[in-house]
Formats: sequence, C-alpha cells, structure tokens
Amino acid sequence: MSAPCPHRNIALIGFMGAGKTTVGSLLSQLLHFEFLDTDKVIEQRQGRKITEIFAQDGEAFFRRLESDLCTELESASGKVIATGGGLAVNPGNIASLRRHSLVVCLWASPETIYARVRHQTHRPLLQGPDPLGRIRELLAVRTPAYKNADMIVGVDFRSPAETARHVAASFRLTTPAV
Ligand code: S3P
Repeated sequence: MSAPCPHRNIALIGFMGAGKTTVGSLLSQLLHFEFLDTDKVIEQRQGRKITEIFAQDGEAFFRRLESDLCTELESASGKVIATGGGLAVNPGNIASLRRHSLVVCLWASPETIYARVRHQTHRPLLQGPDPLGRIRELLAVRTPAYKNADMIVGVDFRSPAETARHVAASFRLTTPAV
C-alpha cells in the first residue's frame, strides 16, 4: 500500500469557462489559503496577455511556461491553484500537481461552457468561426486527461459558492489538519 499523499494545496483543473478562477478564489477564502491563477502568473511575468503570447510566440511556447510554473509550484503550500484549461493535458503537469495537491476537476458540459465564453475574446483557442464545435472537439480530446483528477465536480447545476463549499469539505476530509 502506498503512503497517503499529504495535500498541501488544491489544484483546480478543467476546461475553459468551467469556473476555476471564480471557484478557486472563493475556495481560498474558505480555507484561508492563498489564491494563485497560473494564467495570471504567466501574464504578469511576461508583461503581456495570453492572446499576445500565443500570437507572438505560439502555443508551444506558452505550454513550456505552464510546465515550468508547475515545476516551481512543487515547493508551494497553502495555495489554491487555478490552472489554465490546457495545463492538465500534459501528463507531466498532472503528475507534478499530484505530488502536492488535491487535484479537482471542475466539469461543465459543452453547452454550459459555450454559454459562459461566447461573448469573451481573451481565449485564443476559441476565436474561430465555430466555437461550440471547437469546445466539443477539444473537450473530447481532453476528457481522459481531466479524468486523472482526484475528484471531479459537476458545475452545470452548482453555483461557484456551492462548488467551493463542496471542494473545501472534501479537502478537509482528506487533509484533517485544515
Ligand atoms: C487554455 C485555457 C486558458 C488559457 C489559454 C489556453 C486552454 O485558461 O490558459 O487560453 O488550452 O484551454 P482558462 O481555462 O482559464 O480559460
């Protein structure tokens, strides 16, 4: 039997628009943890928006920045980490997160995601002519990766506050000191 993983942090994974940033921020308040959003950290360090990083240096460059940040976060504790929707697709990133975090996937249907993101312009991967089709396509490809989470929480019928309370309760069960 392997030793239980000491969860020092919580990492939220899941598709764009699933609510990782909103839920993560609420969760950090409930647990008195620090909130960290990988997209925001990357934008701050790069001094430019993700759309600009994609346009100027390409997606592969952005993915390297995500992986580097993952490695850096292995020494973190007391953090709620909201990840970009594609970060968990890299098996190395998931393995890295699992070393220190309870990894929680927020799961939304393509229709819910589309309703949430349709008027937004800051996600380069959804700027084509058929965003709903693209969401379905990407979600199908990413589903096996998202299923690597320790727990999956459906958010179609839960408010961000309900989701945050649900995740906080589960985290306290698995990490009794918090
Ligand atoms: C991406 C999701 C975005 C951001 C980038 C790529 C993806 O983050 O990292 O646009 O590949 O799904 P959110 O999930 O916070 O929108």
